[in-house]
Amino acid sequence: MSKLRLGVNIDHVATVRNARGGATPDPVRAAKMAEAAGADGITAHLREDRRHIGDADIDALMDALTVPLNFEMAATAEMQAIALRHKPHAVCIVPEKREERTTEGGLEVAREENALAHYIAPLREAGCRVSIFIAADKRQIEAAARIGAQVIELHTGAYCDAHSEGDFATRDAELEKMREMSTFAYSLGLEVHAGHGLTYETVTPIAALPEVMELNIGHFLIGESIFRGLPDAIGEMRRLMDEARA
Ligand code: PXP
Repeated sequence: MSKLRLGVNIDHVATVRNARGGATPDPVRAAKMAEAAGADGITAHLREDRRHIGDADIDALMDALTVPLNFEMAATAEMQAIALRHKPHAVCIVPEKREERTTEGGLEVAREENALAHYIAPLREAGCRVSIFIAADKRQIEAAARIGAQVIELHTGAYCDAHSEGDFATRDAELEKMREMSTFAYSLGLEVHAGHGLTYETVTPIAALPEVMELNIGHFLIGESIFRGLPDAIGEMRRLMDEARA
């Protein structure tokens, strides 16, 4: 099986920084540390309300990183302009609601097909890999392929929530959906990524899905780094991913 890439999402370093409004902790420093600890990429979500990552963070990440930046954003004109200015390696289109605490569901690609096809065309032309964050749903995957996305990221939130609630029947059903839909997406020529809510307890079955090429993990790793340091927190995730893949 091919090596599974780990993208480390550093949004919540910025959350802690912004709690006091100063300059520390610096998400770019965390990103460089994650790089040194074996992250294959860095993910940052510039939200419309700038609640964690800010515009200056994206500028600084583009300058500082040697691994690819996966720039997460909502499908708005403002974000498209920012992405076209920076031309990051990848752009991940996510749904965004101001009142949500985190990205709650996948994007409704099927309903917005024409608009999204027009939206992503210039991003693709600029050389960005376009990834669409969706639920493990056949209709959405087919729509993602039709609009010309190169990548889909499967939302693992429902699987992780079911695990933490002890609802193992739902968790296993969600995992089965992910297994079937990652195979289906791959058969359509899409590269498959996954993420949201993953922890040491939930990562192994997702990492074992052969078509999944990349996991994007943030909140748990930043939280865990309080107790064991960021390099060690990332190292343990890397070890579990490699073990699942072996
Ligand atoms: N992938 C996507 C598309 C996301 O929106 C997020 C959350 O920003 C993640 C992965 C990472 O989720 P978490 O922080 O729960 O690990």
